[in-house]
Amino acid sequence: MTILVTGGAGFIGANYVLDWLTAGNEPVVTLDALTYAGNLASLAPLNGDARHTFVHGSIGDQALVGRLLRSHDIRAVVNFAAESHVDRSISGPAPFFETNVMGTLGLLEAVRNHLAALGDGARQDFRFLHVSTDEVYGTLGPADPAFAETNPYQPNSPYAASKASSDHLVRAYRETYGLPVLVTNCSNNYGPLQFPEKLIPLVIHNALANKALPVYGDGLQVRDWLYVGDHCSALRRVLEAGMPGETYNVGGDNQKTNIEVVRTICTLLDARRPKADGTSYANQITHVTDRPGHDRRYAIDARKIERELGWRPATSFTEGIARTVDWYLGNASWVDDVTSGAYRDWIKRQYG
Ligand code: NAD
Ligand code: DAU
Repeated sequence: MTILVTGGAGFIGANYVLDWLTAGNEPVVTLDALTYAGNLASLAPLNGDARHTFVHGSIGDQALVGRLLRSHDIRAVVNFAAESHVDRSISGPAPFFETNVMGTLGLLEAVRNHLAALGDGARQDFRFLHVSTDEVYGTLGPADPAFAETNPYQPNSPYAASKASSDHLVRAYRETYGLPVLVTNCSNNYGPLQFPEKLIPLVIHNALANKALPVYGDGLQVRDWLYVGDHCSALRRVLEAGMPGETYNVGGDNQKTNIEVVRTICTLLDARRPKADGTSYANQITHVTDRPGHDRRYAIDARKIERELGWRPATSFTEGIARTVDWYLGNASWVDDVTSGAYRDWIKRQYG
């Protein structure tokens, strides 16, 4: 049998596909629309690997998804496909609703039609794993308990609202049509292959290019950093043993302020790639106008996935951030590839 991974040319999806085929031999079909965030170079290690098939297309194309489900005898869908960058959702929300809401609806419809044609056993064994975010829960104060699966949804950005909508759709397909769905809500991922519009790779990229390291507002916003390899192992475990209809929060147990993250990257770069003039990369830190509606703090209570499925994050922030910095230093050509004209236009619009 085979799994279908959507958005598998993006950051987490590509890590997941590579990780899946390292851990086992079950074939993967990757479906990706190759937006600015999708990059086939991330899947290059699988060139010529008969276990992997790449298909260029959209999750909203029901006919295409239906054909893939049938012709590859798909037993599970792992849905990563999305517009994922909060700042882009603020400057232009519409694509977020087209992909994250209408795209997910198309995917769910294709799966519903496919399952209707299967026998009872295959239908029961099928899984639809929807990868979502902690941002649907809104923001936390400094002393608030971390987000549990029972927290109410209070999305604050257009991105978060679109992901919340997609989560609701997935839930509705469970309740109404009995789809065997699983939902995960995870915190900020970091690691290899992340597009340099997100904080950590942007800071590494800008530092090496001798550009400003833009910190929004006071930089004291808190994120719970999850190493992408740990996220992949959590998703494997949820797919293997998660209970259909359930939601699992996935976190890194690594709460850090943004300024602390940026300073840590500077320190690592100072040691690994010292600047010719002997100064620290930290001198490039520049506080810029804050993000509108900026969530102050996210933190994940991951006790459910630990208790029920025995998963815990394995990577400390110290270890994960050093590995990440080393990956970017060793993969300059991947970064050069993705920081093309379209990337430069975005940076100019966003940072002036
Ligand atoms: P990404 O932006 O790096 O990748 C998204 C991928 O989806 C790209 O390859 C893009 O080409 C593809 N895509 C976009 N629209 C598509 C469509 N209509 N059909 C098929 N493919 C399409 O995103 P990411 O950071 O890898 O995030 C993956 C998923 O995880 C997203 O759903 C995101 O909301 C969620 N998530 C991400 C994080 C994080 O920290 N990065 C944290 C929590 C949840
Ligand atoms: O929490 C999960 C979410 O994490 C995912 O659902 C999103 O897809 C993912 O993009 C990420 O969202 P964030 O907005 O938290 O990530 P980002 O890397 O954009 O920003 C991290 C923090 O750093 C946030 O507080 C904003 C801040 N920031 C970001 C950028 C790009 C800066 O201070 N300067 C910047 O230039």
